Amino acid sequence: MTALPGKLAAPVALLAELTHRCPLGCPYCSNPLALDTRADELDTSEWARVFSQAAALGVLHAHLSGGEPAARHDLALIVAHCAKVGLYTNLITSGIGLTRDRIKELADAGLDHAQLSIQDSDAPSADRIAGYKGAFARKQAVAEWITHACLPLTVNAVIHRANILRAGAIVRLAVALGARRVEIAHTQFYGWAFANRAALMPTAAQAESAIAEVEALKKTYAGLIVIDHVIPDYHARYPKACMGGWAKRGLNITPSGKALPCHAAETIPDLVFWNVRDRSIEDIWTNSPAFNAFRGEDWMREPCRSCPRKTIDYGGCRCQALALSGDAREADPVCHLSPHHNKVLKVAVLAAQGEDAGAAAFSYRRMPLREPA
Ligand code: SF4
Ligand code: FES
Repeated sequence: MTALPGKLAAPVALLAELTHRCPLGCPYCSNPLALDTRADELDTSEWARVFSQAAALGVLHAHLSGGEPAARHDLALIVAHCAKVGLYTNLITSGIGLTRDRIKELADAGLDHAQLSIQDSDAPSADRIAGYKGAFARKQAVAEWITHACLPLTVNAVIHRANILRAGAIVRLAVALGARRVEIAHTQFYGWAFANRAALMPTAAQAESAIAEVEALKKTYAGLIVIDHVIPDYHARYPKACMGGWAKRGLNITPSGKALPCHAAETIPDLVFWNVRDRSIEDIWTNSPAFNAFRGEDWMREPCRSCPRKTIDYGGCRCQALALSGDAREADPVCHLSPHHNKVLKVAVLAAQGEDAGAAAFSYRRMPLREPA
C-alpha cells in the first residue's frame, strides 16, 4: 500500500461509473446533466489500470455503477480484474440487461455483492417511475437470479412523493426478495431531480410519516435485514455528512475518466477535475485541486467554522450549498443555523404544496443504450 503525505488517509471506496448509458429514465437521476457518450468511455484496459492503481493506494471497495453497468459488454472482465487485484466488488444495477447466465458469469468472475434498484412496491407505479414497461417484473426475476447465484443482495429505493406512502412496503418487498440489506434513500434534490421537484418533493407530513414507519421497521426486522435509511434532509435540522466528508473516504470516476470527489461535483464552477487518462489515482487523490478544495476545515465560513458539529457533518453537502445558496463554501442550507435556511423551506414548501405538486409529469432521463454507428 502506498504511503500518503501528512495525515491524508487512503480512500476506502472507488465508485466507477462505467457508462452513462441506461435503459431507465428515472426522474431523480443523479448523473450529471451533461452525459458522457459511449465513444468517450474508458476502455477495458483503462479501467483495469484504474483499479490496479486504486488497490495499490489502499482502496478496498469497487462500486461498479452507471448509468447501467450491464450495458458494458466487458463487465465480467472488469469484475475479474477487480477480484484479481483484491478489491471487493459491488455491482450497482437496475437489473435491466442482466440474465441468469450473465449473473452467473459475473459471480464466477469474482463479483462479491449486487445492489439492485427498485422504484416502488406497486408494479404499475414502479414501471411509471422508471419510465420502462415491465421493469418491475424483470427486477423480481433478477433478484431471484442474484440470490440463486449465492450473491448477497442489497435492494435500494429512492423515495419521493410518488412512492413515499409505500416506503414501508418497499422494505417488506426487499425482505421478500431475499435482500440482506435495503437502502431507503430519500431523494437528494440537485441536478435532474431538482428540475423535477414539483413531481418528486413530498410534503413534510408525508416525510415524517415515512421516516417513522421505516425507523419502526428497523426494530421489526432486526437480525433479518439491515435497513440503511437516508432521511430527507429538506425536513431535517442538520445536514448529512455528504460522502462522509469531501475527499475523505472515496472518489468517483466518470465514464470518460474524470475523477470527482462526489457524483455532483461538476455542478460546482471553477473546480478543476483531473482525468485518470492523464494522472494516477494516487496523484489525483493527493494533489487534485478539486479534491483539495474542501478538505479539512480551512475553507469553512461561519457558522460552520466555530460549530462543534463541523467534524461530524463537515458543513453538509457542498453541491447542495451551491444549489441553494449560490456558493459552495456556505454551510449546507439544510442546517437550521445557515443564514440561507429559509431557501430550503421555500423550495420544499413551494414544491410540495404548489398547485401542480404530485400531479406534475415526470421529466424522464433518456440516454440511448446504443448510439448510431
Ligand atoms: Fe454542520 Fe455547519 Fe450547521 Fe454546524 S453550522 S451543524 S457544521 S452545517
Ligand atoms: Fe457533492 Fe454532496 S453531492 S458534496
